[in-house]
Amino acid sequence: MTEQITVTDTPATPVKTLPDAQTVTEVTHWTDRLFSFRVTRPKSLRFRSGEFVMIGLMGDNGKPLLRAYSIASPSWDEELEFYSIKVPDGPLTSKLQHIQAGEQIILRPKPVGTLVLDALLPGKRLWFLATGTGIAPFASLMRDPETYEKYEQVVMMHTCRTAAELEYGRQLVESLRDDPLIGEFVGDKLRYYPTTTREESAQMGRITDNLTSGKVFQDLGIAPMEQEHDRAMVCGSLAFNHDVKAVLEGFGLREGANSDPKEYVVEKAFVGDGI
Ligand SMILES: Cc1cc2nc3c(=O)[nH]c(=O)nc-3n(C[C@H](O)[C@H](O)[C@H](O)COP(=O)(O)OP(=O)(O)OC[C@H]3O[C@@H](n4cnc5c(N)ncnc54)[C@H](O)[C@@H]3O)c2cc1C
Ligand SMILES: NC(=O)c1ccc[n+]([C@@H]2O[C@H](COP(=O)([O-])OP(=O)(O)OC[C@H]3O[C@@H](n4cnc5c(N)ncnc54)[C@H](OP(=O)(O)O)[C@@H]3O)[C@@H](O)[C@H]2O)c1
Repeated sequence: MTEQITVTDTPATPVKTLPDAQTVTEVTHWTDRLFSFRVTRPKSLRFRSGEFVMIGLMGDNGKPLLRAYSIASPSWDEELEFYSIKVPDGPLTSKLQHIQAGEQIILRPKPVGTLVLDALLPGKRLWFLATGTGIAPFASLMRDPETYEKYEQVVMMHTCRTAAELEYGRQLVESLRDDPLIGEFVGDKLRYYPTTTREESAQMGRITDNLTSGKVFQDLGIAPMEQEHDRAMVCGSLAFNHDVKAVLEGFGLREGANSDPKEYVVEKAFVGDGI
């Protein structure tokens, strides 16, 4: 069950305007530890789908409390969308999880990041490999027409512990084909492979295991990964990124960067071992 709150009226005069302030327009709570929200977009903000920015709130000490967040909306969207964890005692998200439509957040308009199409050599098939909130940059890239102009096929693998944690991505993917703006670009090119690891579901297993065993290729009826045509983008915990890199290298793919495009790129979904 998700709860959606949309701003309908201009709120009463704000008490204070934050530096680099943007106004929250919509908040959706997906689980007790995941939510997404949309904010107004600074007119001057240009970014490449897949990049991240620093966002936050004013701290109790009067200084901005900022954290890195992937922009989950595509570069053509009039607003910005973010998909967030709720860390119970996290300095930022213990507060951010309570934001409501009409309230303000701080957004530093300096987008950066490695999960951009330009950081990969041309290829035929693009893999998005994500755990948890690591799907956020791919929520942006999956909605960008350029992704489908550059690749014949796109495979979104997303793995979480439970089915409820997959729901944000599942609803987004399901909405794409009929989307009036992006639907014709997506067509049949996007293949979605969500799995759970702790809750029983129709499709299970870690991304690393499903790639090395070949299960994902069999289930989707597609050829195994190989260096010439396959490209990949990775976003998850440090442990996930570390392990999936070894799997991709095993298929012959090499890590690239903005300045040195190769066959795959990686970004951390968060810093730290766990909550
Ligand atoms: C490049 C980059 C992009 C990021 N993009 C996002 C994003 O799109 N959405 C998002 O929710 N977070 C994202 N993060 C993490 C984010 O910056 C914060 O860490 C997070 O918002 C928690 O902030 P906090 O102050 O509440 O707790 P922090 O003190 O920052 O974190 C406390 C602990 O919570 C855990 N944690 C933090 N973030 C996550 C997470 N996303 N998933 C699981 N465990 C986590 C870690 O163990 C961390 O040590 C990103 C981080 C980086 C480096
Ligand atoms: N998700 C929850 O319900 C929950 C609740 C409270 C607290 N937490 C804490 O929050 C932190 C982050 O949790 P999270 O669930 O967002 O992220 P996570 O622990 O990184 O797990 C997300 C998904 O990634 C998989 N995974 C983890 N490490 C991997 C690796 N090295 N290779 C391949 N796949 C890997 C997990 O599979 P496995 O299940 O096989 O590990 C899981 O399906 C953790 O410290 C956790 O203890 C989580």
